[in-house]
Amino acid sequence: MGLQEEIKRRRTFAIVSHPDAGKTTLTEKLLLFGGAIHVAGAVKSNKIKKTATSDWMEIEKQRGISVATSVMGFEYNGRKINILDTPGHQDFAEDTFRTLTAVDSVIIVIDVAKGVEAQTRKLMEVCRMRKTPVIVFVNKLDRIGKDAFELLDEIEEELQIKVRPLSWPINMGPSFKGVYNLYGRDLRLFAPSKQIVTEMHEISDLSDERLNKMLGDADAEKLREEAELVEGVYPELDLDEYRAGNVAPVFFGSALNNFGVKELLDCFIDIAPMPGISKADEREVQPDEEKFTGFIFKIHANMDPNHRNRIAFVKVCSGMFQRNTNYTHVRLGKNLKFSSPTAFMAQKKSIVEEAWPGDIVGLPDSGNFKIGDTLTEGEDLHYKGLPSFSPEMFKYIENADPMKSKQLAKGIDQLMDEGVAQLFINQFNNRKIIGTVGQLQFEVIQYRLLHEYNAQCRYDAINLFKACWIRSKNKAALEDFKKRKAQYMAKDKHGRDVFLADSQYMLQMAQDNFKDIEFFFTSEF
Ligand code: G4P
Repeated sequence: MGLQEEIKRRRTFAIVSHPDAGKTTLTEKLLLFGGAIHVAGAVKSNKIKKTATSDWMEIEKQRGISVATSVMGFEYNGRKINILDTPGHQDFAEDTFRTLTAVDSVIIVIDVAKGVEAQTRKLMEVCRMRKTPVIVFVNKLDRIGKDAFELLDEIEEELQIKVRPLSWPINMGPSFKGVYNLYGRDLRLFAPSKQIVTEMHEISDLSDERLNKMLGDADAEKLREEAELVEGVYPELDLDEYRAGNVAPVFFGSALNNFGVKELLDCFIDIAPMPGISKADEREVQPDEEKFTGFIFKIHANMDPNHRNRIAFVKVCSGMFQRNTNYTHVRLGKNLKFSSPTAFMAQKKSIVEEAWPGDIVGLPDSGNFKIGDTLTEGEDLHYKGLPSFSPEMFKYIENADPMKSKQLAKGIDQLMDEGVAQLFINQFNNRKIIGTVGQLQFEVIQYRLLHEYNAQCRYDAINLFKACWIRSKNKAALEDFKKRKAQYMAKDKHGRDVFLADSQYMLQMAQDNFKDIEFFFTSEF
């Protein structure tokens, strides 16, 4: 198969959700369909339970598992599907956001009873920013939840995306009878079971009398009415609009009962985009360009103390990646060759000879890579990563063992390269500030510094509301601002100016009073 065919048959995506909506369960069912696993329960939930405040073993376990399930590749109907796993715990949201830079589309799982939740909203913001096409799977129809029409309105409003249902539920909870597949035009009858097979009846016309026999007169009539309403209210799915990220097809089902999942998968492989254009600072790169290019979107430390190597995950953007071939590490300007790149098929890791656009390859790394690094066949190219978001929690980090300051510096440096958190240096007192999106990261950093770098850190409280990047075309104004706000100025790890606001009010005042200064809440501008 040539490059074109390999690209066409690839679907690389992530399943995301607010914790507990059913992401892990859905992932597992998709793998079952793909024949990648054979028993339910094979995919472990990679959640760190909220109750385990400082359960290190749990974190260790989670890290171990998430390497194994970082990428789950499988073949289905001639397609090569790559599911990229994202951490379940919301304190690791940055990890999830970065993973979204490597996918061509996303499936969002929503709990029918809970509707759109906080994390769903945040994840959708990232999808919107990148114009990533999304499909929504409304889960847990075997339970009582929100009315389907109301839920669709909520999704449109809260996620700011148009929706188009492609399946329609017949009741829910104890009286859930199944879904009518508006895409494939057939009826799927629900039987609570974890088996793969659901009873399917091709019913292309809803006026078909068989519907009454199967559903009973009242439910058959209700389905006809609702389907008519759906067709009336929601315009037909426009594939271009979906692929542009403007409209989200919606499916209903119950992942736990393996219901509604096959329709989702079958439709997904039909409509989800194949690997597309990747944007670099210099130019746009087509996937079918002959030469290999790719970027690192995730780095995973190996927690086994005997094997300190990290794994850097590269997404192939163009051309064919080959084992034992020299590639240019653009940032370092040096050539690297990989003798044991790994690919991920289902839950097995194996050495690969080649990989194609859309594929993810794991590269053993002894510290060469940072998140966002680009690999090419020599071209000076820099892929645009996902911006860092301005963190929400801050602490000064201090050395707690004066004999180990070198180890501490190295540890902090490498953990930041991995994208565990963000580091700012306060320009006023030169102290290091760690910014994160969740409390757990502080604990992870402290633990890993000790166990991996033999360094001890201590945190000091700092009262900060937000860190934002600043810029101005007016040099004098910028200098003036920096002078006046000297106490609140910091540099990020790339040496860029960051303003540390200690309250919303202070930030608002700064924005109002310094009109020449632009304030940014993500690092890419
Ligand atoms: P997550 O990865 O999004 O966090 O969610 P996960 O799949 O772990 O599912 C969260 C809980 O919801 C699990 O129950 C799971 O069994 C349940 N669940 C998933 N899909 C459905 C569904 O279609 N219907 C119903 N009724 N429940 C569903 P748990 O009790 O938290 O975990 P477990 O002990 O069952 O593993």
